[in-house]
Amino acid sequence: MHDFCFTIPYGLLVVSGGIIGYAKKGSTASLAGGLGTGLLLILAGYLSLQAFHKRKNSYFSLILETACAAMLTLVMGQRYMKTSKIMPAGIVAGISVLMTGFYLYKIATGGNHIPAKTECLSELSGEDHKRVRSALASFLKPECLKLYIGKMEEEVRRHLEIHWNGKQNITVLPLMKTLTFNIICTLLFGVERGARRDKLVRYFQEILEGLWSIPVNFPFTRFNRGLKASAKVQNILKDLVREKRDELKKAASSHQDLITSLLNIRGEDDRELVSEDEIVHNIMLIMVAGHDTSAVLISFIVRLLANDPAIYAAILKEQEEIKKSKPSGAFLTWEDIAKMKYTWRVAMETLRMIPPVFGGFRKTLKDIEYEGYLIPKGWQVFWVTSMTHMDDEIFQEPSKFDPSRFENQAPIPPYCYIPFGGGPRMCPGYEFARIETLVTVHYLVNQFTWKLCCNDNSIRRDPIPVPAQGLPIQIWSK
Ligand code: HEM
Repeated sequence: MHDFCFTIPYGLLVVSGGIIGYAKKGSTASLAGGLGTGLLLILAGYLSLQAFHKRKNSYFSLILETACAAMLTLVMGQRYMKTSKIMPAGIVAGISVLMTGFYLYKIATGGNHIPAKTECLSELSGEDHKRVRSALASFLKPECLKLYIGKMEEEVRRHLEIHWNGKQNITVLPLMKTLTFNIICTLLFGVERGARRDKLVRYFQEILEGLWSIPVNFPFTRFNRGLKASAKVQNILKDLVREKRDELKKAASSHQDLITSLLNIRGEDDRELVSEDEIVHNIMLIMVAGHDTSAVLISFIVRLLANDPAIYAAILKEQEEIKKSKPSGAFLTWEDIAKMKYTWRVAMETLRMIPPVFGGFRKTLKDIEYEGYLIPKGWQVFWVTSMTHMDDEIFQEPSKFDPSRFENQAPIPPYCYIPFGGGPRMCPGYEFARIETLVTVHYLVNQFTWKLCCNDNSIRRDPIPVPAQGLPIQIWSK
């Protein structure tokens, strides 16, 4: 919480106290003291707010606030000792003690937290959005991803070896989060297993917990831990970007991962077109946007396969045929992924019925009319995925799970199937998510059978939808 959020109401309270004291008892001392310190507090709060708008801290304001609060504690505390009156002396002294402590804490911890400058794709707009997005999209397009199926597969094999083989009971969702996080770390950022990756996993968990907590920045709160973790992650990632830049200088053109490919995007004068801060913030965005969403999708597919024998049999048949068509131990190819048509239709229907992303904001660029309502230019509109996916004018019998609706019939009209959003901000990780889901399902059904350990088929919001208890299952190796 910023100092001005409390200081301005505190100042108003002190001013009103002074005026009430004068009105009731004719005390000019109350009036002068209340107006004097109250107005000083309001002024200090206002200056701090102005500084915050300029992305700065005003230490002058913080010191003025501390001095006013300490003086009020002293004066009103002494009055309370003399008169033993709770109203107003005791109350004002009590509030002032707390405020003095709060201001001292703010000074000791470096003032208000100034949010990082917008360098992340989800917050950029116009030309900046296009520039950073096209840099990301160039790496996430199918032609590039084709080359990385093998690496993705290695991560899946290693994950199953460590976390599934030889086990009887496991919980799917946390394991899938570990898997998708590791895939992103290896493929996109070239962070191999080891101490650095372990730290990143831990800090990202804290960031995610902080993201959905009440934004009050006090020590030991989730929000405070999230901010600290975010600062640590940024430092680790900055080091990583610098290491990769040095490596690039030594060995000219290497397009091994997303970071190197972003560093390789150069302007006419060989200047890097995507800044270091932009790279760091977009790595963080991809980590947050890309690993929970895919983990949720794969977990719900695992649950579906345990609940629906017909769908399980059809997927198993498709995946076994692909496995049999290859020499033992050979890696999957782009052509194999293209053959997984039924499996992907099941995934699409899962995404229709349980979209991991609830919706998103858009801003109207001009006045628009929608179903008789006028939405003025500049308003924020929130689109909700399920409202569209459950519309029976678009999908007949929307509550029925039916992967065949994605067979080669008339294509679904634009903006009617939107688990990945739509338009210029549509998820650039679509193809990445598709490949990692298909590769994972291929290995799961070919290597294991499973049954659910919990009969609760409900969905909890965390705030993304998650299966009850994280989906505990019993497994058997084939
Ligand atoms: C099943 C998995 C996924 C789902 C359901 C999903 C869904 C979404 C949705 C709904 C949006 C907002 C789109 C809009 O506003 O129109 C989005 C944005 C985004 N997603 Fe995904 N996503 C998934 C996986 C991924 C992966 C694997 C990555 C990266 C490797 C990724 C990276 C991003 C990024 C960078 C954005 C911001 C795009 C922008 O603002 O231009 N997503 N995603």
